[in-house]
Amino acid sequence: MEAQYELLDSGGGRKLERFGKVVLSRPCSQAVWRPQLPSSVWHQADATFDREDGNRWHNRSALPAQWMIDVDGIIFQLSGTDFGHLGIFPEQRAQWRWIRSICASSKTPPRVLNLFAYSGGSTLAAALGGAEVCHLDASRGMVQWARENAARNGLAEHPIRWIVDDAHKFLCREERRGRRYDAIILDPPTFGRGQNNEMYKIEKDLPETLRLCRNLLSEHPLFVLLSAHTPGYTPIVLQHVLGQSVEGLGGELESGEMLLTGAPSVLPVPSGVYARIRFGKC
Ligand SMILES: C[S@@+](CC[C@H](N)C(=O)[O-])C[C@H]1O[C@@H](n2cnc3c(N)ncnc32)[C@H](O)[C@@H]1O
Repeated sequence: MEAQYELLDSGGGRKLERFGKVVLSRPCSQAVWRPQLPSSVWHQADATFDREDGNRWHNRSALPAQWMIDVDGIIFQLSGTDFGHLGIFPEQRAQWRWIRSICASSKTPPRVLNLFAYSGGSTLAAALGGAEVCHLDASRGMVQWARENAARNGLAEHPIRWIVDDAHKFLCREERRGRRYDAIILDPPTFGRGQNNEMYKIEKDLPETLRLCRNLLSEHPLFVLLSAHTPGYTPIVLQHVLGQSVEGLGGELESGEMLLTGAPSVLPVPSGVYARIRFGKC
């Protein structure tokens, strides 16, 4: 079956991607190399997005109001937002596969916490692997989007708690309530706002986020997966900060770049980094 997401090309500060039948050209600052495809192919994109004069779509009317794609067995509802996002970060694909396979191999349904959870890719991967999930995002609209994605994946009745809250406030409350999780996934923004406008800055807040997460890990945890899209945050940066936060728990720590990919001849585009630790099996 033809892949429903693929990177078609990149270069000249842009990326050309196909989401189902829709081809989009969007900014990509790291693509400092030359495009491989001729400009005639790039000009056939259904719509383009630019940040030159503020955020702007060109030919947005060519985009369906909503459409769906299946990425590795997870169905996503997409829509062109004012910020150029579509409701999916396909560079997380390899993480979603990892999450799903670990959850599926657990003897009992693991309890998974997904923070800064956006449209729910990681939540869906964990739930499809059989986990009970707590999904948290400060944006009510994003939580609603994720719920709709869950329904599209036949998970409307699955045990998923949907929380609209500030991440730190919620983590402190969960600790007081004595709730514990077997796995924690977090993709903190460079800069974000909590539900009541609390400011989140990764450079200041990440160690505290991880300290709070550490306090919520169950006695025999499965994993912690941290990812970020912050300039200057390399895999080793994330590996160090994650490693320090779970010191003394053992486990296998690894890190790497997240990539947008297409056919083998297409240059992969680095889009963020991850570090993850896999503890003993439960
Ligand atoms: C980078 S996106 C996450 C992307 C997502 N994990 C993915 O890969 O598909 C960051 C998300 O964090 C949320 N957010 C920002 N500040 C927050 C805060 N203080 N507490 C909770 N969520 C927050 C935003 O609403 C946004 O959905």
